[in-house]
Amino acid sequence: MPAVVPFDPPPDSDAAVFAAARREFLFPTNIAYCQTGTLGASPREVVSALVEGIQNLERDLPDWGYLQSDGEPLTGYQPLTDFRAEASAFLNAPATEIAFTQNATMGMSFLANGLDLAAGDEVVSTDQEHPGGIDGWKLLAKRRGVVVKELPLLPALKEGPDGVVKLFDSAITRRTRVVMFSQITSSLGIRLPARELCALAKQRGALDRILEVTASLA
Ligand SMILES: Cc1ncc(COP(=O)(O)O)c(C=O)c1O
Repeated sequence: MPAVVPFDPPPDSDAAVFAAARREFLFPTNIAYCQTGTLGASPREVVSALVEGIQNLERDLPDWGYLQSDGEPLTGYQPLTDFRAEASAFLNAPATEIAFTQNATMGMSFLANGLDLAAGDEVVSTDQEHPGGIDGWKLLAKRRGVVVKELPLLPALKEGPDGVVKLFDSAITRRTRVVMFSQITSSLGIRLPARELCALAKQRGALDRILEVTASLA
């Protein structure tokens, strides 16, 4: 039997960078695991930080005052200004517009329920959205008669990114208030032309352009 030659990519190559990154994950090395969302694997550094954080919390609890220095009770709803500043630099968005939510579903549901949509207002999206992204809008359809258009994405892909832009273009009307889509879809990993779709929505006057980047950031 021929000997298995271990793959040894040249240093500084992309392959070497990916091989080094792969070693940071705890699941067995013979498995290719592509989920980057809810069940996305965390690298060692993140796992260690989480474990360390919980240990520190449990150790230091007796020293925590119920009231903070500003007199407010320690509710867990602190402004977390430093973390928001870091996130804002990474996302290129104002820190005042950054909110930390428990997960993507909660964030998307806040957005849907925070907008003042009425019967007949339209939300234009695709049929490839994760329930966590689309269900908040579907709830508005049930409760308030908002119209959710789930455009069939797969046939449009035959024409590549232009086909996707055309699909949205043909679905947006004067009643469209929201254009919402995932930059990378959850189950098939389709990358949508986010820049072009946001520009289209702006040009066509959709008031709210909501780009879900759960799988892109994970
Ligand atoms: C595009 C997309 N939206 C939403 C979710 C749900 O994320 P969460 O579990 O953080 O609410 C996922 C999870 O995989 C996702 O891929």
